[in-house]
Amino acid sequence: MDDRPIGIFDSGVGGLTVMREVIEQLPYEDIIYLGDTARIPYGSKSEQTIKKYAQQCSRFLKSKNVKTIVVACNTASSIALEDLKDNFDIPVIGVIEPGARSASKATSNGKIGVIGTTATINSNAYQNKIMEFLHSAEVIGIPCPLFVPIVEEGWEYSQVAELTAEKYLTELTEHQVDSLVLGCTHYPILRYTIKKVVGPNVKLINPAFETAKDLKSLLKEKNLLNEFKGNPKYEYYVSDAPEKLRRIGGNFLKKEIDNLYKIAIDNL
Ligand code: DGL
Repeated sequence: MDDRPIGIFDSGVGGLTVMREVIEQLPYEDIIYLGDTARIPYGSKSEQTIKKYAQQCSRFLKSKNVKTIVVACNTASSIALEDLKDNFDIPVIGVIEPGARSASKATSNGKIGVIGTTATINSNAYQNKIMEFLHSAEVIGIPCPLFVPIVEEGWEYSQVAELTAEKYLTELTEHQVDSLVLGCTHYPILRYTIKKVVGPNVKLINPAFETAKDLKSLLKEKNLLNEFKGNPKYEYYVSDAPEKLRRIGGNFLKKEIDNLYKIAIDNL
């Protein structure tokens, strides 16, 4: 029994899609969410910068006495997870391995698409992990950087979203992928538009679902679950523009956002 909160961080609001799955599967856990909104996007930054930011976010969560850290950001998970595991004395989990495992289970023809930020796709993190689970897999990675601003603009059902998805994703149809990893926190919000473009036979994989499952197993295994079935507390921290998280975060989390605070992260 451990009633310390779970810490979750992302480069911005997107990680709330991961928090939503965590709440769904671990409804009694307190959660501290950090969105590094001052420095989003991570997806177009260098490895060195992404690692530095991920360290600072984790240090902040650690200062809040969290029992575990979930790296909700696919970009930070791709680039910085091993670093964080080495530097923090609490369990740290990312979204890549759960997403890759899920995709390798879902595919029938071994052809898997992965979409994400430029940094995520260029890191080959998903591609390599999928091949570890399924040696014969053929993995096609496509960076889709415009999806993030489209979602943040609230245009997920618009013609702009559909045309952009067509431009990015037609290649996947040509490769006959039967499963597609939504390798960025924002993409689950676009799933209807993505599905419309790739067709009903392509399974969309949201790594957040499997990540929350892994988190639950990890907490159980390490005796870190909060067995007290009370009302959980959620706190939200951002490094800039709290009103933006309040305004658009509801769409990601499907929940009102209270207990929201702005922090300075540069000096951590
Ligand atoms: N949260 C990021 C991810 O999942 C997307 C936004 C960004 O580029 O920072 O990769």
